[in-house]
Amino acid sequence: MDKSRHTGKVAIVTGAANGIGLATALRMAKEGARVIGCDVNEHALAAARATFAEQAVEVELTKADVTSQDDVDRLVATAADRVDVLANVAGIMDFFLPLGDVDDATWDRVLAVNLTGPMRLSRAVIPLMLARGGGAIVTVASKASVSAGASGVAYTASKHGVIGLVKSIAYFYGPQGIRSNAVLPGAVATAIGATAAPRVPWAMERAQLSMATMNPTPADPDTIATAVSWLASDEASNVNGATLLDDGGWGSA
Ligand code: NAI
Repeated sequence: MDKSRHTGKVAIVTGAANGIGLATALRMAKEGARVIGCDVNEHALAAARATFAEQAVEVELTKADVTSQDDVDRLVATAADRVDVLANVAGIMDFFLPLGDVDDATWDRVLAVNLTGPMRLSRAVIPLMLARGGGAIVTVASKASVSAGASGVAYTASKHGVIGLVKSIAYFYGPQGIRSNAVLPGAVATAIGATAAPRVPWAMERAQLSMATMNPTPADPDTIATAVSWLASDEASNVNGATLLDDGGWGSA
């Protein structure tokens, strides 16, 4: 770990109370950033505060729902006039519901959290990044961004959509110093199982066909945080619009 990698930088991390967001907040704070984390889950926020305190790592945590424009505005305001890094990590799954079974509420919530949330956060930080001459946005997408065998239809559609968001930001704002990249994890050991429990068993069984070949053991969240941190850093200064599969090879199955 490079303890000065992000020294002097301000980073916003969403979904910071669990899993990959928690690991990203921890890692980036240890690497020198002022980290402002948010999450919608109050219980998880309390547990995360305890984790950060145990490790003597300073992370500013606040309750915010990435689907709420008011919450997004409030979150970005806490950074005052400087955001160097945005890590869009918050996300939920869709109970492996295939199209014939998906209900509107699941579709709307999954699209709101996984696609509209990163859009709102990214839109909010763009003016601050432009004013300072650049910045880095890293969005946690998924193996489900490039194939259909990792989830139900809503999650797959949301994570495919996120790639369009990531590339559009890279294309339009790259010349002004803003880099936008995506990390695409395979299975990771986190709390996301709450929205992953299959409601339609055959759909999950089909997904497991490819998962079992190449991604039998879920990765540790910090392995994904490592990729997020690198893409956010100046070491990745020539990487823009990239989609980095970080899936133990599952994508090759
Ligand atoms: P997690 O469930 O452990 O953590 C996600 C956090 O996001 C939770 O603390 C949750 O409360 C928070 N969150 C959910 N909705 C929110 C909202 N509207 N506003 C603010 N915070 C919200 O899940 P995990 O696995 O760490 O997920 C992080 C990202 O990684 C997600 O985007 C997920 O789609 C992606 N991912 C996860 C994989 C896995 O196997 N765990 C595989 C591929 C991608």
